[in-house]
Amino acid sequence: MAKTKLGILISGRGSNMQSIARACSSGEVPAEVAVVVSNRADAAGLEWAADNGIPTAVFSHKDFESREAHDEAIVTRLQEAEVEWVCLAGYMRLLSSVFIDAFGNRVLNIHPSLLPSFPGLHGQRDAFDYGVAVSGCTVHIVDLELDHGPIVVQRAVPVEGCGDAGALADRILIEEHRAYPEALKRLLTEPWTLEGRRVAFGRGAS
Ligand code: GRF
Repeated sequence: MAKTKLGILISGRGSNMQSIARACSSGEVPAEVAVVVSNRADAAGLEWAADNGIPTAVFSHKDFESREAHDEAIVTRLQEAEVEWVCLAGYMRLLSSVFIDAFGNRVLNIHPSLLPSFPGLHGQRDAFDYGVAVSGCTVHIVDLELDHGPIVVQRAVPVEGCGDAGALADRILIEEHRAYPEALKRLLTEPWTLEGRRVAFGRGAS
């Protein structure tokens, strides 16, 4: 079976990018990372990608006059690499309709809370400060709203024993690194369809 080509978008550390790339290399996920794109030249994850033989590209949003123009440039680069699925992995930009129109429901994101609770930039801290007993992470299909699209995989973690939000973030990150490959594997290998907001596995085309 031909491997699905992935594009991964990052803005920083790229630990989720690494977990996806490793799952592809090991064969757990039947895909290959065709290109890693960052909006920041100083994203640490770029170095790891290059060291691991993955093509990289940088498109600073500061070089474009609109969100749409920035997205257009990235979409073009992804299409040059024949990318079929896009994974946002710590990519700190909202996508415009240019992006969603190009890839449809084949754009995923991971967020460090159990959505719809605690969307936004500080999911772990907001959950910790609220005093929840359980938080976690969510892999979802991306739409035009922040941290909003249909949910593919969620994993819960207990907050008890975490002394601060950083400790909770560390605990959630461990689950993120399992959840993202799991979500990709399911979407690429199982039949699924969207029923409203629900990702219905076992129905539809694989
Ligand atoms: C992760 O916590 C992810 O859930 C959030 O941004 C963080 C990125 O971390 N969207 P990394 O760059 O993947 O290490």
